[in-house]
Amino acid sequence: PSCVLAYSGGLDTSVILGWLQDEGYDCHCVYVDVGQPCEDREAILQKAHDCGSKSARIVDVREEMCRDFAFPTLQWQAKYEGIYLLGTSIARPIISKACLEVAREVGAEAFAHGATGKGNDQCRFQLAAEALDPNVKIIAPWRMESFRNSFPGRTELIEYCDIKKIPVKASAAKPYSSDENCLHISYEAGELEEVDNNGVGMVDFGMGVSPQDAPDATEEVTIGFESGMPVSVNGKKLGALDVIETLNTIAGRNGVGRIDIVENRFVGMKSRGVYEAPGMTALYHAHLHLEQLTLDRDLVHLRDQLSPVVAEMVYYGFWYTPKMDALLAFIKEAQKPVTGEVKLGLYKGNLEIHGRTAEKSLYDAEVASMEGGGSYDQTDAEGFLRLMGLPSRVQGTVRPRSY
Ligand code: ARG
Ligand code: SIN
Repeated sequence: PSCVLAYSGGLDTSVILGWLQDEGYDCHCVYVDVGQPCEDREAILQKAHDCGSKSARIVDVREEMCRDFAFPTLQWQAKYEGIYLLGTSIARPIISKACLEVAREVGAEAFAHGATGKGNDQCRFQLAAEALDPNVKIIAPWRMESFRNSFPGRTELIEYCDIKKIPVKASAAKPYSSDENCLHISYEAGELEEVDNNGVGMVDFGMGVSPQDAPDATEEVTIGFESGMPVSVNGKKLGALDVIETLNTIAGRNGVGRIDIVENRFVGMKSRGVYEAPGMTALYHAHLHLEQLTLDRDLVHLRDQLSPVVAEMVYYGFWYTPKMDALLAFIKEAQKPVTGEVKLGLYKGNLEIHGRTAEKSLYDAEVASMEGGGSYDQTDAEGFLRLMGLPSRVQGTVRPRSY
């Protein structure tokens, strides 16, 4: 039998690569590039080959991930449990897709990954993979008792690599685990499992400085949108990945986008995480404020009701589902008017609004003005409120409230 392995070149997937071959599998390694830090790509491919992989390749999905996964999620203003911008969640379905494309090409019937049996990632990998190919066999070694018994800890993993002559870099065990892509970095486990402490103070962040270390002056940045899609930074047209990378740099150096959350995993337990997403945090903020100029009130209120539903689906891993297809079609239609620019002021972790413009803005200063004039006639409010208050007046007559 043969399988594709979502391979990172790290300790876990290196051991899994060896173990799969022990189990009789021909392995094809796929390093899906979602913007994780990688010192030497060629070295990773070489390592996969040296460790017996039948084939090894890098698939760069960064642009597609930002454009077709992260941006629609942004258009929904989706935040899991009100805070988390879903940076890891959104990267999972596209990793499954990239692996399955390779599986089809090489004729592999199984898809192996290194996610644990306790987390969300296994759900996202598997739900996406099975939706794309109902016949795919999922191999999740960490869910298999035999595998866990063979590798109860890091020591055994390293021992196995010694025996199999798999090169492992002597990296000091970190105080917590992290997951990085171009959208964000997550930090959890280890020392972060204790919740009554300052997580943001404990983490050595990779994308930006702390608000305390940020410059004393406000930095302005202008973000342009077309139909709800971010398209420019400071007047310069950019592709999706470039928008995010540019904003990661700008917002990161101003201490923007760090959070600490105790979140509910799909598998049931609560988990404490610290995240940094400087670019996406700036984008969510700018986008919301452009919607305020351009979107119809009732439409945006409906979107706001559905937004937690979308966040939950992305977090759980239900990306490739008819419900999500319909929600994506909805948001694409709803976002058509969201075109214009927002100028943010970034100051020590804060996001100020320094201006917003939209050619087709719905904001009418004359109607809104307290000065009178425009097409708003105050006497109209008389009848409006008589009708709005009718049910309350009937209630108040029949069932008087005590006060
Ligand atoms: N808790 C976050 C999520 O579920 C981050 C998961 C991090 N994953 C990882 N393999 N370190 O989206
Ligand atoms: C894992 O369990 O593999 C990482 C954490 C998660 O997926 O939630």
